[in-house]
Amino acid sequence: MRIVRTVTDLRAAVRSSERPVGLVPTMGALHEGHLSLIRSAREQNATVVVSVFVNPAQFRPGEDFDSYPRDEARDARLAEQAGADILFAPPVEEVYPPGFATSVEVHGLTEVLCGDPARRGPEHFRGVTTVVTKLFNMTQPDAAYFGQKDAQQAIVLRKLARDLDMPVRIEVRPTVREPDGLAMSSRNAYLSPADRERALALSRALRAAEEAVAAGRLDADDVLAAARAELAKAGVDPEYLELRSTEDLSPVERVNGSTLLAVAACIGRARLIDNTLLGGA
Ligand code: PAF
Repeated sequence: MRIVRTVTDLRAAVRSSERPVGLVPTMGALHEGHLSLIRSAREQNATVVVSVFVNPAQFRPGEDFDSYPRDEARDARLAEQAGADILFAPPVEEVYPPGFATSVEVHGLTEVLCGDPARRGPEHFRGVTTVVTKLFNMTQPDAAYFGQKDAQQAIVLRKLARDLDMPVRIEVRPTVREPDGLAMSSRNAYLSPADRERALALSRALRAAEEAVAAGRLDADDVLAAARAELAKAGVDPEYLELRSTEDLSPVERVNGSTLLAVAACIGRARLIDNTLLGGA
């Protein structure tokens, strides 16, 4: 696996590689969720590029940009074992050189859930869509791989690619969970043993909602009450717990074939998100 740090070197490496090219954008601190994306990319492409870049533009002031876990040597080892051919690990100035002044914004999907101005805000997604646009332009991949755990991000990125006619297929892969149900996340590293136990309430809440739906309780109030009860048992007060359409993230009053149940909560130092697709979505 080659490690490249500049756009020029990345382009040269991609140009001399076989197509199709699959890109797995990450912020590093790789875990099994990322590795499953890299393995998927490996299965479907002749060349696999993994980017590792902790993107300052998607963090709000006061968020964990400075403390976000960084260990490039470990990431490089794991990415290579999972099948990456090229690791793109640029310094911040390579992505945002002095004078950088452009941003890319998807409207309508980025002001709710995590994008609610009282939460991470639409600026978070503007940071994501700007850097992903740049990574697509730098790499020019045939396909790019993202995790379902970041469901809103995946919906926003599909819309970005569609609206801007980007010649890249967006592939979304299932959330990878620990054996006890906790969704894998780089931020799980922030959890104390006691917080980690409380964090299980998120996946339990999602399972409770799935059971309610399986039992024919489809009204939003019923589904959300089932989920909320699990959170309450663990003393978890969610930042949000909402049913939204997977099409356009509009609120859903009754579970139908395309319903996303999304939850976010702060547990100790970690802000965690998780979700499930309900009703056969
Ligand atoms: O999902 C992430 O890790 C990031 O939001 C991404 C897509 C790599 C952009 O920085």
